Amino acid sequence: MRVLSVASECAPLVKTGGLADVVGALPGALAAEGVRMRVLLPGYPAVMAALRDAAPVLAFDQLFGGPARLLAGQAAGLDLLVIEAAHLYDRPGGPYLGSDGRDWPDNPERFAALSWVAAHICAHGAGDWLPQVLHGHDWQAGFATEYLRAMGGRVATVLTIHNIAFTGSTDPGRIARLGLDPARFHAEGYEFFGAVSALKAGLMGADALTTVSPSYAEELMTPEFGMGLDGVMRHRREALTGILNGIDTQVWNPVTDPLIHPFGTPRSKSANKAALRAELGLPQAQGPLCVIVSRMTHQKGLDLVLQVLPDLLAEDGQLALLGSGDPELETAFRAAAADPNVAVRIGYDEALSHRMIAGGDAILVPSRFEPCGLTQLYALRYGTVPLVALTGGLADTVINASPAALARGVATGIQFTPVTAGSLRNAVARLCALYKDQKTWSRLQKNAMAQPVGWDQSAKAYAALYARLTA
Ligand code: ADP
Ligand code: GLC
Repeated sequence: MRVLSVASECAPLVKTGGLADVVGALPGALAAEGVRMRVLLPGYPAVMAALRDAAPVLAFDQLFGGPARLLAGQAAGLDLLVIEAAHLYDRPGGPYLGSDGRDWPDNPERFAALSWVAAHICAHGAGDWLPQVLHGHDWQAGFATEYLRAMGGRVATVLTIHNIAFTGSTDPGRIARLGLDPARFHAEGYEFFGAVSALKAGLMGADALTTVSPSYAEELMTPEFGMGLDGVMRHRREALTGILNGIDTQVWNPVTDPLIHPFGTPRSKSANKAALRAELGLPQAQGPLCVIVSRMTHQKGLDLVLQVLPDLLAEDGQLALLGSGDPELETAFRAAAADPNVAVRIGYDEALSHRMIAGGDAILVPSRFEPCGLTQLYALRYGTVPLVALTGGLADTVINASPAALARGVATGIQFTPVTAGSLRNAVARLCALYKDQKTWSRLQKNAMAQPVGWDQSAKAYAALYARLTA
């Protein structure tokens, strides 16, 4: 099975969030299922620098405003197709934002180009390689189905929704420049509340839709979570499935992780906690050391943590946060770090994220919505008890320490709902009580560490989907 994966990020080359991890992990996970997946990426500087054995397979005189080539090559063990187009991708900053923190003004064209090249590869091939399935991720790949329709390509198409909050919307004045068929600017096409939406295009056009957890698949069909697209999701109910993300269990393996003091049992985790406290300047304390590794946005509910922090500290608990994002949240957490039992590191730091997840007693993930979430999965593997909102993938990956689950000895963490400060406060109180009960706590940790969090099952689900679509 030949599959072209199309995405705007791919770990370890370029990453702003979990999307990159998933895109980077799928090819390896699916190889075991007989799927050969190549990943199509924009030629950002970091991708161009990492690309090995690059060979041009296609050339375009004009790709959205300048010449471009498609290069085939390898990087980080991945089989890549990379769009070399200096006018679109050769610039400093992140994949979406300039160094000033603002969206690149030509993002619609930059990712339309990604989608257009994806469609071209599926319609005409790349060298002698012709995919059977086009598998796009999020809005950045959304227009591929529109271009494919115009080119007459006949491959099966899948779009995975990692976060419906980003719709890739722009002004209808751009239709011509984006090379879209103006006749399809309507509700059954790529029109979305009067705007042009790349995500809407893909949601309407793809043969199959997936999202990254079964619960989020259900939630997407509701007004609360659908963000205006819930009607579209209900319309496409038959095409939609939730396939849970896994994590890279080689990178996140407490027994072999070179970034931590390796450990195999909850008991032998303690060196990591001591090291983390020393690194962050946190004193000894009787309560749980809670960690957070997160983008700092409204989605993640970190404002609720600020409200509940006094309660955690009153129980002699501690908080360590690593993250960046919303300047107001950054400032508020910096201020909270005036308390000696709170440590805040603003920034992005892969190595520190391993030390935090290894050293914490618990991880807090109070998201308002969470399509899947990866940090609670890392935490499970590292015996760090997840305290999570009962939503999306967080609902699907944590077994709440209810009296029944505790009695049966199957609990792995704590869930709370609704996502409010009051209910988080109760959850923190439950966490602190459980932490005091050493026997129960170590049972939670053991269960957490034993829970499968790899890709095995989900890789089979994707492979089965491709097989069904191409049968
Ligand atoms: P999202 O994609 O919504 O940000 P996920 O939980 O799916 O949420 O994925 C987030 C990924 O980014 C995880 O791999 C997490 O460890 C990583 N991450 C987030 N913030 C930081 C940070 N400040 N430093 C290091 N890694 C981070
Ligand atoms: C998105 C979601 C996150 C998910 C990730 C990977 O960024 O916010 O919940 O884990 O994509 O699918």
